[in-house]
Amino acid sequence: MNLIRTMSSMFCLVGLALSPVDRAALAAEGKSPPTVASPAQPSAAAEAVDTRTALRLTAMMAEHQKSNMRDHLAAVQEIVAAIAANDMPAVERATLRIGHSDAMAQMCQHMGSATPGFTEKALGFHRTAGTITAAAQRGDRTGVNSALAATLRTCVECHAAYRQEVVDEPTWRRLSTAGH
Ligand code: HEC
Repeated sequence: MNLIRTMSSMFCLVGLALSPVDRAALAAEGKSPPTVASPAQPSAAAEAVDTRTALRLTAMMAEHQKSNMRDHLAAVQEIVAAIAANDMPAVERATLRIGHSDAMAQMCQHMGSATPGFTEKALGFHRTAGTITAAAQRGDRTGVNSALAATLRTCVECHAAYRQEVVDEPTWRRLSTAGH
């Protein structure tokens, strides 16, 4: 927890070190530069410049979600390597890590339970990833490529829409529809 706080305040310091160019860009967008964040709101400076919808998570959930994300990227890397080797069974194996499953759906439900709309986007991503598996099973390399492109589009769309916001446990419980 202390480490997370330290890292957050380091991030703030980086965020505050705005160049004149950054400040001009913010002014052009009609935004004011971030002010010094109080220790109670360690990510206020970052939030001031990032206008995406907040995906509200506890610190533990945030770490878990980012770790899932890094695994998604590793799965995509394996898929691309398998396509390059024209190895459709390997494509199929790699997609199972990002395809739809009951366990995956449950986790997305949990991650999105304090943020309307997030779970639907996440489930759409996993369903699209399932179309890569289906194409690989047919031995359809062109189909695999276009299904991969459609899947990556869902990654891009979600990243454009949401950013993480760490909240404390009571706040998350209050916002969550999960009934905890
Ligand atoms: C439903 C939404 C959603 C989808 C779909 C999604 N992500 Fe993410 N991802 C996020 C959010 C939210 C973050 C945190 C971003 C932030 O706070 O700036 C993130 C962060 C990441 C990170 C950074 C992890 C870290 O350690 O900081 C990686 C890498 C990543 N995503 C890869 C992917 C890849 C690859 C895909 C698709 C195969 C994908 N994501 C699909 C929501 C999503």
